[in-house]
Amino acid sequence: MHFTVGNTSDAPRSDLPELLSALAADLRGIGYTVDGVAGLLGESAHAALSRDQLIPALIATEAAADGDPDAAALAAVVRLWLLAVPQRTDVLDAALPGIRTEGLLALGLVEPEPPQSDPAAGIVRAKADLRPYGWGGNASTGTGSGSADLWVASDLAAHQQPGVLRHDHVLGIGQASTTLVQTTIRREVARALDLGTGCGIQSFHLLNHADHVTATDISARALAFTRFNLLLNAEALRIDPARPEDRVSLRLGSLLEPVAAETFDLVVSNPPFVITPRSPGEAAGDQFTYRDGGLPGDDIVASLVRELPSVLAPDGTAQLLGNWEVVAGTEWRERPQSWAGPDVDAWFIQRELVGPEQYAETWLQDASESRDRQHYQDAYAAYLDDFASRNVAGIGFGMIFLRRPAAGARPVISRFEEITYPIEQPVGPHLGAAVERADWLAANDLAATHLLVAEDVTEERHQRPGAEHPGVILLRQGAGLRRTNLLSTELAGFVSACDGDLSVGQIIGALEALLGGGDGFDGETFRDGLLAEVGNLVRDGFLLPA
Ligand SMILES: C[S@@+](CC[C@H](N)C(=O)[O-])C[C@H]1O[C@@H](n2cnc3c(N)ncnc32)[C@H](O)[C@@H]1O
Repeated sequence: MHFTVGNTSDAPRSDLPELLSALAADLRGIGYTVDGVAGLLGESAHAALSRDQLIPALIATEAAADGDPDAAALAAVVRLWLLAVPQRTDVLDAALPGIRTEGLLALGLVEPEPPQSDPAAGIVRAKADLRPYGWGGNASTGTGSGSADLWVASDLAAHQQPGVLRHDHVLGIGQASTTLVQTTIRREVARALDLGTGCGIQSFHLLNHADHVTATDISARALAFTRFNLLLNAEALRIDPARPEDRVSLRLGSLLEPVAAETFDLVVSNPPFVITPRSPGEAAGDQFTYRDGGLPGDDIVASLVRELPSVLAPDGTAQLLGNWEVVAGTEWRERPQSWAGPDVDAWFIQRELVGPEQYAETWLQDASESRDRQHYQDAYAAYLDDFASRNVAGIGFGMIFLRRPAAGARPVISRFEEITYPIEQPVGPHLGAAVERADWLAANDLAATHLLVAEDVTEERHQRPGAEHPGVILLRQGAGLRRTNLLSTELAGFVSACDGDLSVGQIIGALEALLGGGDGFDGETFRDGLLAEVGNLVRDGFLLPA
């Protein structure tokens, strides 16, 4: 049945259904939602909080704590779980009258504030982060299937507590989590896999469009947080608390081990991809489980790209985030290309490329390892040595799409590209449309097709003052990946004729008659070259079948 994964100390309890219901009712009652918190804090303090800056929210809630009882109740909860300010038990009892402090202690969401270890003495502090999370309409999911208001528990983050993070830290909803949420191509599927579920964030979204979700993690604590979150939000996630296994299976284990010999229609993973220097004799307990897969270099991402297709059903897709090393003197795409087998569709988009120094700084900061100067110096040097040992000049970050072709089909996508500028979010629906266009191109005769220019496309011409013709003609896409295409004269002529009247072959023929005929003009090369360029514009969504 795979829902209960033993009892895990030091994680919220999910075996007290009455308390979970009481908590959900209380949180709903005080309006502890994304909008409710934003309304309480005001725009700028809320924006600061999303950058992990607590001070403006501390100031905003100080005033509210003494105001009307509704605002005071919400302020107490925000200060407890988002700002990590210890609260008086009588204040929490009044704010959450159904569950009261006693119930929060029983669930493991708060603990007595030292030095007085007796809760009756009156002050408790957050033992976990518990925050509202939600989505509306199809804005973040791309599914068009309604909205959700949830509460998500995870460990307190670096900015909410002193010292270095615990090594088995259970990550809350971060930037990478939302990037993957927004990148995922959402279609109705029977079975989905969330590999390395953490607090369960990807699974919440998958439950919106998958009949059944399997969530795995190497950390029993992470699975305990996920189980708690699923049951706390059972109603919104359409889970029957008496039979959660009908919709979700939680599995403990590493990478594909817990799902070997099974197949899925969709796999998503924000894996522990952070490249970390290995040290002799290190134990698993020394590693930050949430980000470090324990392998050297970028091996964790390489092995997932190689092995994930084995758990994909025909036509099944996998989407993940990853880092890859770029060896000095090579193109970034060379390593990812060597991982993706010839029998799968593969699309890598590199979103960022940083040097070893910046990489070390980012990840030492992330776990608050910069707070101890000597440790910081040693760890920084270890990062540089590690990258130097493999002659790594840069580290790429990006998104990966893999697809096992449908029965009898061949792969049609092999794309490794760099897009570092801001793109439209959620980009998932646009990636899905691009995959459909690649399939369409493979199955149809482009020359016989009639095309239209997509609604979001504009043309930009640049010319030297006084020049008769433009020197540069750019086609720009307003939506999705917001691509720009530099057009040749003939391609610009082609695009301007795409009103659906003539077929691609007819327009190319007319342009050949107009522009060809000069010395050295080769009609076949002209036609083939232009047809290929038109195919690229269709693939990228500038031109669409009429
Ligand atoms: C970066 S977190 C992602 C959490 C969550 N899915 C998200 O999108 O925010 C990576 C997760 O992978 C888990 N993990 C680490 N090593 C793993 C392994 N070898 N197999 C499966 N999960 C692993 C960690 O415990 C952690 O929960």
